[in-house]
Amino acid sequence: MSSITGKTRICGIIGDPIEHSMSPVMHNAAFEALGLDYAYLPFRVRREELPEAIAGIRALNLVGLNVTLPHKVDVIPLLDKLDPLAERMGAVNTIVNNDGVLAGYNTDAPGFLQALLSKGIEPEGKNIVILGAGGAAKGISFILAEAGAKLVILNRTLPKAEELASQITQYYHKKLEAMVLSEENLSKALGGADVLVNTTSAGMVPGVDQTPVPAKLLKSDMTVFDIVYNPLETRLLREAKAAGARIIDGLDMLVWQGVLAFEKFTGQKAPFEIMKGAATKALAHEK
Ligand code: ATR
Repeated sequence: MSSITGKTRICGIIGDPIEHSMSPVMHNAAFEALGLDYAYLPFRVRREELPEAIAGIRALNLVGLNVTLPHKVDVIPLLDKLDPLAERMGAVNTIVNNDGVLAGYNTDAPGFLQALLSKGIEPEGKNIVILGAGGAAKGISFILAEAGAKLVILNRTLPKAEELASQITQYYHKKLEAMVLSEENLSKALGGADVLVNTTSAGMVPGVDQTPVPAKLLKSDMTVFDIVYNPLETRLLREAKAAGARIIDGLDMLVWQGVLAFEKFTGQKAPFEIMKGAATKALAHEK
């Protein structure tokens, strides 16, 4: 950062709170590794100041911004263009400034898909069980439906799972089952599952002793993907590993969404390992 000059291009992230974001360390490490004259800054932006912040992208000639909670939905009407997936998801996490024209994208769900593909798992035709029906589950289930996976959604609150299932049926013309998150339903759904994805906050700090799935239902022939990254090894992943299952943690999704955003900001291929290393180090320091 000591080498900022008059030519340095600026990107950043807006959210509230913002101090725990991993994005500044990931992106700055990548700029440094590739020798790019860019810098990436965190901006705490209050809800009521979002319109001014977005207008500021143009006024300050920023390259673009990532967007995190609580602004991912509210930012949409403030943009000039919207990528079709972001539009369908109703959430934007990346804004690119093309000469004052602001385009919104979502790299969260594509980041999830890249994390799966990078482990050699091609979703087409796979039986995938999704736990949760919130914002993260929405993006993930949309992208998996688009990729041709067979989905089942389980959520603590059944109507939310049913609503998500009906959106998938509407957009992707696929029928899928929505069930309440209970041991009985998990047992049924996991019978033929290739991949289990946890998008619920069960197991996240401070509830690290929680798990959404009883250990006895985890099997060696499944892949268990927990999008929680705090902690990196959740109880679910620990028990999945013990059962002989293949596991993918939430850091991979976080890094891949950053990789995809980086490529939109710079037009260059992002250094995945550098970004993952920087995020891993930053997470260890958070503790
Ligand atoms: P995100 O954007 O991360 O998906 P969210 O939209 O707040 O966050 O959704 C959180 C999800 O975690 C929801 O599916 C929620 O279930 P409800 O719809 O029933 O609220 C789920 N969740 C949170 N805590 C949970 C717990 N202890 N057990 C099971 N599910 C939980």
